[in-house]
Amino acid sequence: MTDTLRIALAGLGTVGAGVIRLLNENGALIAGRAGRPIEVVAVSARDRAKDRGVDLSGYAWEDDMTAFAARDDVDVVVELVGGSDGPALALARKALGGGKGFVTANKAMVAHHGLELASLAESSGTPLRYEAAVAGGIPAIKGLGEGAAANRVERIYGILNGTCNYVLSEMESTGRDFGDVLAEAQSLGYAEADPTFDIEGVDAAHKLSILAALAFGTKLDFDAVDVSGISRIRAADIAQARALGYVIRLLGLADCAADESGRHLFQRVAPYLVPADHPLAGVTGPTNAVVGEGNFVGRLLFEGAGAGDGPTASAVVADLIDIARGNSQPPFSLPVSALEESAPADPGGRLSRAYIRMMVADRPGVLAEITAAMRDAGVSIESLIQQGQREEDGKPVLVAMVTHDGPEAGVTKALALLEGSSNLAEEPLVMRLLG
Ligand SMILES: NC(=O)c1ccc[n+]([C@@H]2O[C@H](COP(=O)([O-])OP(=O)(O)OC[C@H]3O[C@@H](n4cnc5c(N)ncnc54)[C@H](OP(=O)(O)O)[C@@H]3O)[C@@H](O)[C@H]2O)c1
Repeated sequence: MTDTLRIALAGLGTVGAGVIRLLNENGALIAGRAGRPIEVVAVSARDRAKDRGVDLSGYAWEDDMTAFAARDDVDVVVELVGGSDGPALALARKALGGGKGFVTANKAMVAHHGLELASLAESSGTPLRYEAAVAGGIPAIKGLGEGAAANRVERIYGILNGTCNYVLSEMESTGRDFGDVLAEAQSLGYAEADPTFDIEGVDAAHKLSILAALAFGTKLDFDAVDVSGISRIRAADIAQARALGYVIRLLGLADCAADESGRHLFQRVAPYLVPADHPLAGVTGPTNAVVGEGNFVGRLLFEGAGAGDGPTASAVVADLIDIARGNSQPPFSLPVSALEESAPADPGGRLSRAYIRMMVADRPGVLAEITAAMRDAGVSIESLIQQGQREEDGKPVLVAMVTHDGPEAGVTKALALLEGSSNLAEEPLVMRLLG
């Protein structure tokens, strides 16, 4: 390795161009902190002719980014292409297998293939870093994996998707409905043209599974994340939550318990009612926040920009500085062989209060059927509101209730009892209250 840390950059879109701008603008400061210069030597993207607002003339161009792995003048490959498989994964395997350091912002790839890539990095004795993959510019990976490394982490949770947080906080401040606000978010560039991964919670689930492995020392298990998104939330739910003293946020939550049968990992991404005085209630717009609770440090809250060229480039270059300094902790804080197996935790016994919203036929006997199902399932109702009587047009009306603390299995059973009822116009929406 020469004194300079030599980088090959795959992907010159939002984040890739941001990394080049950051290295150009803060190069001297970065070299000082890293102890050596960090320089791009080669780049790759699909379209060589595209103007990216940065000068690429000093860098070698590769049409096939996997060619980086064979270049003797490259120490670290930076992957900013995206996609869980395909060219990004082929590049990661080749680069790590060939002994190059590897930095990525690709949460989908790390969530699906993180263990394989960490094993490759270990056997090649080369660094793998992914700070930008979780919560963009927020140093949550460094904070939990290094700053809190002395703790047993009890629980992690947070706002892990800026698009959802933007949509929910706009709905909250304007009273508008989901579809309306999402369309505006797309026109402002806060939401992708195809927002499914964001809106349905998949992107947050990628990040949560990575954080859980890091925090609890368990093997990555993306498939076990219980995921629901925000597309069914109505302006009326936001108003009901507000009346109860809550705001709605899409949260990722994970904890890990152990008994004689092994470790049980709970991972969920879902909209939650968050008390208005909780720090996460004040996190609005596209901002992200990650909370970790350690047994000695207590509650840590990391908050900041979860996306955007500048913040994400900041996290990518922080990884490069770490590598330039020779820091060499394992990607998931423990060697892969020390990461423990876990079984998905059964959520049925978890105690929580639930907000349940139903759209029901506006006729006599409906409330009696709902309350009987709750009673038969052992669910105790704390409050119940029926809204918007519209006898004249026969449209469904909203019934919202909040339950007392009880096992989640109770609400599941009550809804099973109501399944198929001709009184329900659509599937009920259940959101837990953050305790
Ligand atoms: N944007 C953010 O705020 C953000 C935040 C955190 C993490 N990330 C992650 O960072 C990564 C990059 O995101 P981005 O927003 O920068 O994406 P982007 O703007 O869509 O850029 C993707 C880049 O990859 C190149 N590319 C795509 N397919 C390719 C292929 N088959 N071969 C070669 N190059 C290819 C594209 O080339 P062309 O330009 O020639 O089409 C483009 O330069 C993703 O993993 C994303 O999840 C992004």
